[in-house]
Amino acid sequence: MYPDEKEKTLDPGSQQEWDRLRALGHRMMDQIFDHLQGRRDQPVWQRMPDPVRRTMEHDPLPREGEGAAAAYESFVNGILPYGIGNTHPRFWGWVMGNGTPEGVLGELLAAGMNPNVGGFDDSATLVEEQVLRWMAEMMGFPPEASGLLMSGGTMANLIGLAVGRHAKAGFDVRAQGLQGGPVLRVYASRETHSWLKKAMELMGMGRVALCTVGVDRHYRIRIDELQQAIAADRAAGMRPVCVVATAGTVNTGATDDLAAIADLCEKEDLWFHVDGAFGALAYWSEELRGQLKGMERADSLAFDLHKWGYMPYDIGCVLVRDAETHKAAFASGASYLVAMERGPAAGGLQFADRGIELSRSFRALKAWMSMKSQGVNAITAAIEQNVEQARYLVSLVEKSPSLEIAAEAPLNIVCFRYAGASDEQNKEILMQLQESGVAVPSSTVLDGRFAIRVAISNHRSRREDFELLVKTVEQIGRDVVAATGSPAQT
Ligand SMILES: Cc1ncc(COP(=O)(O)O)c(C=O)c1O
Repeated sequence: MYPDEKEKTLDPGSQQEWDRLRALGHRMMDQIFDHLQGRRDQPVWQRMPDPVRRTMEHDPLPREGEGAAAAYESFVNGILPYGIGNTHPRFWGWVMGNGTPEGVLGELLAAGMNPNVGGFDDSATLVEEQVLRWMAEMMGFPPEASGLLMSGGTMANLIGLAVGRHAKAGFDVRAQGLQGGPVLRVYASRETHSWLKKAMELMGMGRVALCTVGVDRHYRIRIDELQQAIAADRAAGMRPVCVVATAGTVNTGATDDLAAIADLCEKEDLWFHVDGAFGALAYWSEELRGQLKGMERADSLAFDLHKWGYMPYDIGCVLVRDAETHKAAFASGASYLVAMERGPAAGGLQFADRGIELSRSFRALKAWMSMKSQGVNAITAAIEQNVEQARYLVSLVEKSPSLEIAAEAPLNIVCFRYAGASDEQNKEILMQLQESGVAVPSSTVLDGRFAIRVAISNHRSRREDFELLVKTVEQIGRDVVAATGSPAQT
């Protein structure tokens, strides 16, 4: 049953070793579920102690293995307790989701099956197609829309933008590069996430090809300014290709007027891309959908399931309305990858033809597991609950004598500050709060002023968590101001 000793494998070498590894696997399963179940009673975040950090930094390359049990002990003691904290009910930093136990199981099964998901006649391919079809339905896209699951919003947005550029350049960018025609211009508001600058750089267009448009007092792109910019660029001999709109800006959760942008793109023959990294998920809710009206008219839409879909990292998604246009931007032939009429190579490399990657992980399975086991209604209810909680937090801040709201909170992001404190003091308050292990919001700068920023994409949060947040910020704020003086004195 087991191979000749001379023929090595990385699998366990005997029945006994398989049994030992299986038992360890069961212990891991139990402990990771205990960890998740007991998360509320642990600090949100704690700094890795220096001795542990030193071990991490100086551990030599393991040329000989120490065995899975010993490696697991190192994980339990040195890694698990010192994560960023996003599985905790009071983690509201940046925009991070907190995953689900079902998602953990999906990851486990995906790794066990271990397909490469470039395409071909593979059940994993069909699962991804199914998930994409479900996503199209949830986002108001036609069933024949194309799509791709990606590592995250940054990558999904990059794909959408690349498809748009290829479709609207008016020359063959794939063959000729940017030398094939006039300067191509992309438009987005100044509240757009930094992925766009990186994408412009990576696509060889440079940030000079990005026209950054101002926002109104609701942090939404100014349509009049956008129109003027497009006209001015055309007059100057440049070629406008794409408007990037945002559904749920990273700073405040604002959503551009998507219907107006859809109209404009139609009129101007521009590609309409929507970055809905987290905000697009609000479309799942009948109650919230109105804020995103027009999103379903996008040529391409990027969003994450690892943020407000509460699925484990990493999983983002891009949908492209027209499947042929999507494929035209990426499909390439190679003799060693060619499709056969029958057998596992039948059907071609569907996914490799829709993006940059050839080998890809089976991230579709955790989405499939999450949606099949929990149902999208439960996920949608959690999204609605988060928006309710954001409203509740706004009401708590408004009632507090020492706190003030820093921006409108249309969705799930609440920005506020300690009213009697300087930017530096607010920063100190935030760091002390994070280090206390009570809660982890993050920060931003709004109109030049520092703000504590609470992004609620957390299905474990309860109202009482926001009460504790407000109470703790008030307390720390009092102490910080008492210790460092009122702003006038600092
Ligand atoms: C609006 C927006 N777009 C894009 C991104 C990037 O997504 P990811 O972190 O999944 O790459 C984020 C991340 O927070 C975001 O909030």
